[in-house]
Amino acid sequence: MKITLSVIKADVGGYVGHSESHPAVLAKAEECLAKVKQSGLLIDYHVTKCGDDLNLIMTHQQGEESEKIHRLAWDTFVAGTEVAKSLKLYGAGQDLLSDAFSGNVKGMGPGVAEMEFEERKAEPVIVFMADKTSSGAWNMPLYKMFADPFNTIGLVIASNMHTGFAFEVHDVKEHKKIILNTPEEIYDLLVFIGAPSRYPLKAVYSRSAGEIAAVSSTQKLSLIAGRYVGKDDPVCIVRAQGVFPAVGEVLEPFSLPHLVEGWMRGSHHGPFMPVSIPDSIPSRFDGPPRVTAAGFQLADGKLVGPRDMFADISFDNARQQANDIADYMRRHGPFEPHRLPLEEMEYTTMPEVVKKLEGRFTELA
Ligand code: F6R
Ligand code: MG
Ligand code: MG
Repeated sequence: MKITLSVIKADVGGYVGHSESHPAVLAKAEECLAKVKQSGLLIDYHVTKCGDDLNLIMTHQQGEESEKIHRLAWDTFVAGTEVAKSLKLYGAGQDLLSDAFSGNVKGMGPGVAEMEFEERKAEPVIVFMADKTSSGAWNMPLYKMFADPFNTIGLVIASNMHTGFAFEVHDVKEHKKIILNTPEEIYDLLVFIGAPSRYPLKAVYSRSAGEIAAVSSTQKLSLIAGRYVGKDDPVCIVRAQGVFPAVGEVLEPFSLPHLVEGWMRGSHHGPFMPVSIPDSIPSRFDGPPRVTAAGFQLADGKLVGPRDMFADISFDNARQQANDIADYMRRHGPFEPHRLPLEEMEYTTMPEVVKKLEGRFTELA
């Protein structure tokens, strides 16, 4: 049975500030999707949040980039925005960059990760959701899951994974993409994906099965809007087991709270902290950036779950380490590398300060 799993997300208003989603907004989204499930358009859905982002996890048979499904998500975000406005939540409708829906939410503000596949006899999927960071945050974890034998022992000792995976890399500045095969092209791959703000990973494929393994949202809101509108707060879907990494191999990269872009005013590096869904309430200096993981078994498109994968106490050390790194990074205050390089900051006063001080700059001797 061919199933499409669509995860579409948007920040339609924060409670309090940018720290969390309001239960009334989640309830409204639940109400919208329940109605549509009854009509048969959706097989199943799950509404959840990561910090101030509303995540719609949906299964259906309309394929990827379906106008009907994207319209449903859009209308749900608009309905959520109405609730957010009535409660005067912070930044109500922040990610709805256009007033009119034009057939596809891609490029409009919401983040989208979708994959269509033949559901296996047992189909474990993990939906990763992030807040206070951008889509390049998935680069290192995806590399580790699908190309690093120190993370994924299956690459070495499981014959159905030994041929490796193909990585689709996007260039967000040039609007180009390339597919690179691992293991033989890992050095070429790393030249690009080690610079995640420019080269986010869009998708990963199993080379032996020719199947989609992972897909992420790669929207760069700041580029879409041409002005600051918030970090993308991306999502990523990963299939697990069999020809794909085991669930534990998929989760293992997050035991390292690696440094990602985002955090306060989208202008800092901070540790990517794996947390349970209720703990996705980034409050300290609007962070540190969070990642949650909702695990499901699919049953003819039904979402059996979620299991809150990072609720496991085995991620406590990663959280402790993230807090220690947060302390250390914060002590740099307004200095790089805590503060992002000039061209990556979401906020800047540089042009106005330069203008004000224009006459005071003199030539170096
Ligand atoms: C980061 C984020 C927040 C805001 C900050 C200032 O992605 O959303 O850190 O940038 O709270 O928000 P404004 O400018 O809305 O007062
Ligand atoms: Mg927000
Ligand atoms: Mg957010």
